[in-house]
Amino acid sequence: MADAGHVPWWRDAVVYQIYPRSFLDTDGDGVGDLRGIERRLDHLVWLGVDAVWISPFYRSPMADFGYDVSDYCDVDPRFGTLADADRLIAAAHERGLRLLVDWVPNHTSDQHPWFAESRSSRSSPKRDWYHWRDGRDGGPPNNWRAAFGGRAWTFDDATGQWYLHLFLPQQPDLNWSNPDVVAAMHQVLRFWLDRGVDGFRIDVVHCIGKDPAFPDQPAQLGEIDRVGIQNEPTTHELIRGFRRLVDSYPGERTTVGEVNLGDLPSIASFYGRGDELHMVFNFLPLHAPWTKAAWQDVIGRVAQELPTGAWPTWALSNHDVRRIRTRLGGEDAARAAAVLLLTQRGTPFVYQGDELGLEDAVVPDTHRVDPGGRDGCRAPLPWEPGPSHGWPTPSPWLPWPPEADARNAASERDDGASMLHLYRDLLAMRRRSAALRRGSLHLRDAPGDVLAYERKCGGDRRMVLVNFGDREAEVPLEGSWAVDVASRPQPQPGVVPAHGAAVLAPER
Ligand code: NOJ
Repeated sequence: MADAGHVPWWRDAVVYQIYPRSFLDTDGDGVGDLRGIERRLDHLVWLGVDAVWISPFYRSPMADFGYDVSDYCDVDPRFGTLADADRLIAAAHERGLRLLVDWVPNHTSDQHPWFAESRSSRSSPKRDWYHWRDGRDGGPPNNWRAAFGGRAWTFDDATGQWYLHLFLPQQPDLNWSNPDVVAAMHQVLRFWLDRGVDGFRIDVVHCIGKDPAFPDQPAQLGEIDRVGIQNEPTTHELIRGFRRLVDSYPGERTTVGEVNLGDLPSIASFYGRGDELHMVFNFLPLHAPWTKAAWQDVIGRVAQELPTGAWPTWALSNHDVRRIRTRLGGEDAARAAAVLLLTQRGTPFVYQGDELGLEDAVVPDTHRVDPGGRDGCRAPLPWEPGPSHGWPTPSPWLPWPPEADARNAASERDDGASMLHLYRDLLAMRRRSAALRRGSLHLRDAPGDVLAYERKCGGDRRMVLVNFGDREAEVPLEGSWAVDVASRPQPQPGVVPAHGAAVLAPER
């Protein structure tokens, strides 16, 4: 019988996102690889995260840096081999780390053999694996826009039809209403589950269902790209299908879906009745301004609008947006943001390098490579001071982030006051506090620019104070509290420095 008090591992976990091109290179081509990840697993154990999610490392022409997959069941030679992936999974598990891989179900690369076959003729047995349509009045079949600009349809001269791509023309959308596509993609899940991965981060999963009528987008929505609004009822049945598959494996395999819809009720619907995604990314915190009002609103709405049982997720950065430190403009606020992230109710996701306090790299126009303009947040991780920062080359695929001689893993490990140590202290605190990992969250009144909330689980309690203002703030406290971890040293538990944050524990 299931244990009613049992908490699945992913609810208790903090997940660390690895962008493999930029984690660590071992073969000298300037691009990170799977062996580089394996080499630094002990660092992640030292840091204190529970799981890693690795962005795509499959065979890919790299038009979208791995989110254009040409073989879901092989490793791109730039990243290594399948044997390296197996070793990495084993090495992570030996250290007690879980490993999630990225699954990109909405689209393949245009170089995937499925698409090559599909575009070869109108009578191809795989023609219907993608969305092919006749044009309208000499133009595309409808007015949808693609995510990186331009229309979402490309005309194929050879067969005289248009194919759909919600992202680049090199990323044609799969037709999930075709049962053969469903079966083939389920095989991909099995392939990685059989190799032992603990679950999947699922790329733009809300986009997979399409209305076969492909209606025009209403004019009042303007030029908004389709990804931000694509939400078909059929998607939910497809998700239930792969949830059943994932759940059929032992060991609490999990899924976290990227749902790029800006409102919480839509996000909430992707949890289903506990039969769809285990977790859904919530992008509101990524775009929330650094104010008390905005964060009070986000935290309050997540508590109110996600149904009971829908376990929230929290992220401040990822490989698609400017880093939190760059967005906030200073180290103090970035430290306070770390406190905010790691004291929420829900599973936090830490993007590689935020724990070092990295800012986006300044990438000269001549070095820009990403069609979505996201190079800055994808800069390589500096592991050491010195010209090549622990990489085998001083000139990796993108420039180093600012101040890499000071902001690197080795230097910050040696400095007990560094951002890295703050993250480590916060992660250790979260591990030892049931209130922070699993407890309820209650917003409390606090003066001025201070946001206050309490976390509680049984007898365990923590009070979190975050000062969004640029002046020291004094918060009257009921009862007797001591500082557990603070973003900066502070004179008293209730006195929070400008752009500071503290986690208080009841004084014994
Ligand atoms: C979301 C991914 O995070 C992003 O990097 C990618 O460009 C798109 N999906 C398309 O796969």
